[in-house]
Amino acid sequence: MTARILDGKALAERVRNDIAARTAALAQRGVQPCLAVIVVGVNPASAVYVRNKVAACEAAGIRSLRFDYAADASCDEVFARIAALNADASVHGILVQLPLPPQFDEQAVLEAIALEKDVDGFHAENVGRLSQGQECFIPCTPHGVMKMFEAEGVPLQGAEAVVIGRSNIVGKPMAMLLTNAGATVTVCHSKTRDLAAHTRRADIVVAAVGRPRFVTADMVKPGAVVIDVGINRIESGPEAGKLCGDVDFASVAEVASLVTPVPGGVGPMTITMLLENTLEAAARAAR
Ligand code: GUN
Repeated sequence: MTARILDGKALAERVRNDIAARTAALAQRGVQPCLAVIVVGVNPASAVYVRNKVAACEAAGIRSLRFDYAADASCDEVFARIAALNADASVHGILVQLPLPPQFDEQAVLEAIALEKDVDGFHAENVGRLSQGQECFIPCTPHGVMKMFEAEGVPLQGAEAVVIGRSNIVGKPMAMLLTNAGATVTVCHSKTRDLAAHTRRADIVVAAVGRPRFVTADMVKPGAVVIDVGINRIESGPEAGKLCGDVDFASVAEVASLVTPVPGGVGPMTITMLLENTLEAAARAAR
């Protein structure tokens, strides 16, 4: 089988056009959605993500504010900034870019964000609501993957799904969303014995491990849907500097029925869902 390639860039563009139209309609009612982004220290990957997030906001008519702190910033000044943004009615979403330098208690920072402005969906109460299938802000990457399933009509009910990776940002919320949608979900990770035995049974594989080309064709059931969340930079050899995912795209595309590329797959959808969550936060505040 040769897989269809799921063009995340094209889907993201369609969804962003819709978001831009809804943002314009809200602006007509006097509310311009606004996202505040807090960055502490200099991390090359974070710098790219944040630049892309801010540019996507502008393109969709969403105002963005950016607050940069040195790597040795005090916890107090960042908490004071979050408190000020929580109290500012013109700000609808607050995002603290992760990872934070070691002097920060990441969970305490995330929980300082007002629940109604937690557009990343990382606050413990949002996570709890997600696990109960209640309305909440859904973390952007798994939210984007669910939109991809919906757009492609991938059946989830009763499907065998394997999520590789158990991070709070992707793996765990992805598993919860698939469970809520009626899939039978297995979460695999670095300690899993015989990973391939799990993935070979799966109708859906979501790879979020952060290891270049980790999922190979022999690990994939013919006809499976394979979603690649990884973004890795190849460090050495003839392809040094090139971006690749957690999936060995060339070989897996020979076996799967649907596969996402890197770049141009999940990445553009992640940012799109941040816009969607920010617009939703503003719309709720305007109700
Ligand atoms: N670092 C890597 N991914 C993310 C994300 O989705 N949100 C935040 N805040 N930080 C990240």
